[in-house]
Amino acid sequence: MKVAVFGLGFVGLTTALGFADKGFEVRGYDTNTQRCAEISRGHLPFFEPGLDEALARHIGKTFLVADSALEAVEASDVCFVCVGTPGLPNGSADLTSLLACIDSVSESIPDQCVLIVKSTVPPGTVTEQITPYVRTKGLKNPVAVNPEFLREGMCWEDFMHPDRVVCGVSDDAAEDVLLQLYAPFHAPVHLVEPNTAEFIKYLSNSLLATMISYSNEMSLLADAVGSIDTARAFHILHEDKRLAGAGINSYIYPGCGYGGYCLPKDTAALAAVAQNKGIEPRILNGVISLNEEMPERTAEKIARAVNSKDSKIGILGLSFKPGSDDVRDSPAAKIISALIKAGYDDLYVYDPIATEEFRRMHRLPIYYAASAREVCEACDTVALVTAWAEFGSINKEFPETRFIDCRYFLGKA
Ligand SMILES: NC(=O)c1ccc[n+]([C@@H]2O[C@H](COP(=O)([O-])OP(=O)(O)OC[C@H]3O[C@@H](n4cnc5c(N)ncnc54)[C@H](O)[C@@H]3O)[C@@H](O)[C@H]2O)c1
Repeated sequence: MKVAVFGLGFVGLTTALGFADKGFEVRGYDTNTQRCAEISRGHLPFFEPGLDEALARHIGKTFLVADSALEAVEASDVCFVCVGTPGLPNGSADLTSLLACIDSVSESIPDQCVLIVKSTVPPGTVTEQITPYVRTKGLKNPVAVNPEFLREGMCWEDFMHPDRVVCGVSDDAAEDVLLQLYAPFHAPVHLVEPNTAEFIKYLSNSLLATMISYSNEMSLLADAVGSIDTARAFHILHEDKRLAGAGINSYIYPGCGYGGYCLPKDTAALAAVAQNKGIEPRILNGVISLNEEMPERTAEKIARAVNSKDSKIGILGLSFKPGSDDVRDSPAAKIISALIKAGYDDLYVYDPIATEEFRRMHRLPIYYAASAREVCEACDTVALVTAWAEFGSINKEFPETRFIDCRYFLGKA
């Protein structure tokens, strides 16, 4: 079976290489020509363990990068759309790239090719917007939706070993293609209505966001009461046999707010859907507003710990989570901006892998140090903003430094 993949970001490139690894013939296409050139040279455009080796194994063999949308889609049996669906100012998902992608294949897509939306789209999108749009182009192709659940930093592992595969289908052709594609993964494949498939993705992300905001609210409450060892309290909570051993515990833990490309925009998009349908999403609105408050609260906590506005403040961690160089919607950027706005502008920052991406994306007037050591030697007060393992016992190396453990993960002496 010939597979086309549009959008070669975290999801698209992983999807392309995952199917290539299973022996399918895959052609990828991205409108970002620089990204295409990099990938063609066998160079991964972002940090993702395992994906670099998969790229080296398959590029030029079962995986090719096409020079045009036409070249990618012609002769394909299935076309995955994995482009971004960012948030609009009112919270709803911006479908511009998705619709542009359909425009770009409309002249050349073979009649039988199944169009599969892998981008995250709110419930109702494929049925109410994408399929009608495809039909207005005069295309009769089956349209399906196949949400992706991978985690950044674990893209390859999660894609190759899915706990479940969700396929929103409304015809036999799409069902057959998806069953064939996922058969080699030996995971449960759930064939559901398109709306249900889309909804499951948002159920998942909004639950994760809810647990994070719940934990953050509890940490604020604990700080206000005082004399509470918040980290210890959460670890003891995790020992409850209903939670123990569950991977979910990393989400039932406080920090400085959720960030990254998915949870902020997906919670906002679901809240927008609810609002449009006349439902007030009370829990979701609370989850979102608490999260929006967390960077400011964290900046205030850091500011309270320093002696004066002239103090040098260190920030360790810039990516939205450890194990990733993704800085989109990273709490670090918001915390740094809030500190600068409050007059604390002598900031030394360091991240093990995300520095260049952060510098490029956020353009903040801060000093980028070459190591965590440099930060700790220069600053009396250092805030830990991303829980990179290499920072886990830094307080023992620098006993004179005042550490603000915004992620509640520093090793206790
Ligand atoms: N990042 C994640 O962890 C994750 C997990 C699950 C689902 N998702 C969802 O998957 C989708 C993609 O996310 P991502 O993180 O891979 O995004 P990304 O920004 O890393 O990649 C999207 C790519 O699409 C390309 N693109 C834009 N318009 C295009 C077009 N018309 N034709 C071809 N390429 C085009 C962009 O140049 C970019 O390289 C989003 O809807 C996201 O919500 C992301």
